[in-house]
Amino acid sequence: MKRNLAFIIVLILVFPVVTGQKFNNLTPTPPMGWNSWNTFQSKINEQLVRDIADIFERDGYKNAGYNYIIIDDCWSLHERDKDGNLVADPAKFPEGMKALADYVHSKGLKLGIYSDAGTQTCAGYPGSKGYEMQDARLFASWGIDYLKYDWCNSQGLNTIDSYTKIRDALYAAGRPIVLCICEWGNTQPWLWGKEIGQLWRISGDITPCFDCIVDHGSYKDWGIMKIVDLRNDIRKYAGPNGWNDYDMMEVGNGMTVTEDRTHFSIWCMLSTSLIMGNDLRSASPATNEILTNKNAVAINQDPLGVQAFKYKDIDSTEVWVKPLKNDEWAICFLNRKNKSVTLNFNWSDNFIKDPDFSYSVDFKNEKFKILNIWTGKKTGTTRKPLKAVIPVHDVVMLRLSK
Ligand code: GLA
Repeated sequence: MKRNLAFIIVLILVFPVVTGQKFNNLTPTPPMGWNSWNTFQSKINEQLVRDIADIFERDGYKNAGYNYIIIDDCWSLHERDKDGNLVADPAKFPEGMKALADYVHSKGLKLGIYSDAGTQTCAGYPGSKGYEMQDARLFASWGIDYLKYDWCNSQGLNTIDSYTKIRDALYAAGRPIVLCICEWGNTQPWLWGKEIGQLWRISGDITPCFDCIVDHGSYKDWGIMKIVDLRNDIRKYAGPNGWNDYDMMEVGNGMTVTEDRTHFSIWCMLSTSLIMGNDLRSASPATNEILTNKNAVAINQDPLGVQAFKYKDIDSTEVWVKPLKNDEWAICFLNRKNKSVTLNFNWSDNFIKDPDFSYSVDFKNEKFKILNIWTGKKTGTTRKPLKAVIPVHDVVMLRLSK
């Protein structure tokens, strides 16, 4: 009897129990942070990550709610070591990932890293295929908090199988790590992602352009509005702990300040992750103001976790609506066209019904106070029609409360 018990204990110690779960409640609201890829690609190193952590504190990003600092592709050597472990490139990360994670944690922040389900990452570094458990243990031992898991060089693999494998490995490794599924929306991850990860990309890579597609032949990069337009009907799959991911932001990366504000506004409305992708060390005051606007962030982080829907088009103005907690609403009038528009919105003509969830509002019978998100001003109530001129590519974004 005793020998049997000892045998069972040894078994449990040697073979971690894989229960086929993801960690509970890691992202009740969309994750917020910064990622190295959009600006730095392979030009990353530990000083940059430390600087970003310092700037998170110094320039108000941490205070606004950003906490993940994510190192994307190109952090490792091209070969695993003799034991099959991934190795952080010592030229870029001389102190190693554990020391870096300790530093980031000492600031009350979290560290993210990147790998790939296939044989190699998109930039040609080792992928995790066949090493899922070993890599998950390594990431856990370093103190990693977030894993972006890409889909390059994955010929012959099945997305659900591969992402389940890494989910189970992370769970068995025992450290709560957010899993970002990055297969670009190829196999409808909104249908299965919630069982596996905390967020899933819905598109190919973003590019800092308001409304264009950059076609590279075998793949495309997507401007802001093109990503917004790409998928219909996926909002019903998003919610606490399982978010549609519209990609890392391009705020501060070359569009006009107005376009950046609109980009940020719509990312907030869509309850997507707010992962900054610009060089925070040289961000302009205007960029910083957009990214740290607490009223806008509060709409993204609203605990109800309901993604906005497009309610209607009024000429060239799109009206996006997001139900919020406590019967509040966010509403965003977005001018997509290349000329300014004059808005005259008579609230009481509008009965808004959420097409996927049971939220509705009849402005004829209900009165709301209005907060203008970007001016920060309280601007009357829904008793009077809303009149505004919306410049090219700009928004009027409001929060309505009783
Ligand atoms: C893919 C991802 C990007 C980035 C690069 C890195 O293209 O979609 O977000 O991680 O790989 O190589």
